[in-house]
Amino acid sequence: EPRKDFAGKRVLVSAGPTREPLDPVRYLSNHSSGKMGYALAQALYQRGAEVTLVSGPVSLSVPYGVRCIPVETATQMHAAIMEQRHHADVIIKAAAVADFAPAEPGSIKWKKTREDDVPTLSLTRNPDILHTLCQSRQPGQYIVGFAAETHDLERHAREKLQRKGADMLIANLVGADHGGFGRDENTVEIFTPAGSHGQFSGSKIQVAHAILDQVAMQCTVP
Ligand code: PMT
Repeated sequence: EPRKDFAGKRVLVSAGPTREPLDPVRYLSNHSSGKMGYALAQALYQRGAEVTLVSGPVSLSVPYGVRCIPVETATQMHAAIMEQRHHADVIIKAAAVADFAPAEPGSIKWKKTREDDVPTLSLTRNPDILHTLCQSRQPGQYIVGFAAETHDLERHAREKLQRKGADMLIANLVGADHGGFGRDENTVEIFTPAGSHGQFSGSKIQVAHAILDQVAMQCTVP
């Protein structure tokens, strides 16, 4: 039975990919399965938190005791997070939000009108949810971001931590043998403005608990 060190804390977690429609039948997305964010939501509930999960489309069932708000696009995720954030003591952004969306999604299915027809895709930028949250942070709110990196982990993590203005950044080693997208295991290194707090490997539920140990420690520092 885990410690109830998050009892009385309200935590908002985002998970999964977003889908950016091209037309009613096609979309742009990424390989996030939602496993990391769902593991965090499950671990938080076990540790006594009141958990709200804003989730992109995934094929996982919602962990017991967790309230889930399903969304599809980055714009919908942004709206849901902005609405829910007022109640949150801690926000953890494990979602892989699409940075770009098709500028003019078709209202009807794109058709090949001629044999050599190739449509040109123009994109717009999606809102940066983590950046917005950090810029308008509520007093006492603790904000954790994620980053998936293939190299120069420390440099990229420190840079992202500062640019986004988060309190903690969880850097995933992705690629080759490292877990990350889709797998059941992950390897992360945890950074705060004070520096690295170490590297953690294991199942996503073990990694979730390691992350929460660090969050609990940071949150109780006056
Ligand atoms: O879902 P799984 O298959 O279990 O995989 C887990 C994961 C690899 C998706 C997850 O652990 C992870 O690393 N998520 C962040 C992925 C990422 O690459 O994020 P980023 O570097 O594009 O963005 C950095 C941070 O800003 C993230 O916290 C992201 O949620 C946030 N962001 C990004 C873009 C945007 N428009 N809005 C955001 O809030």
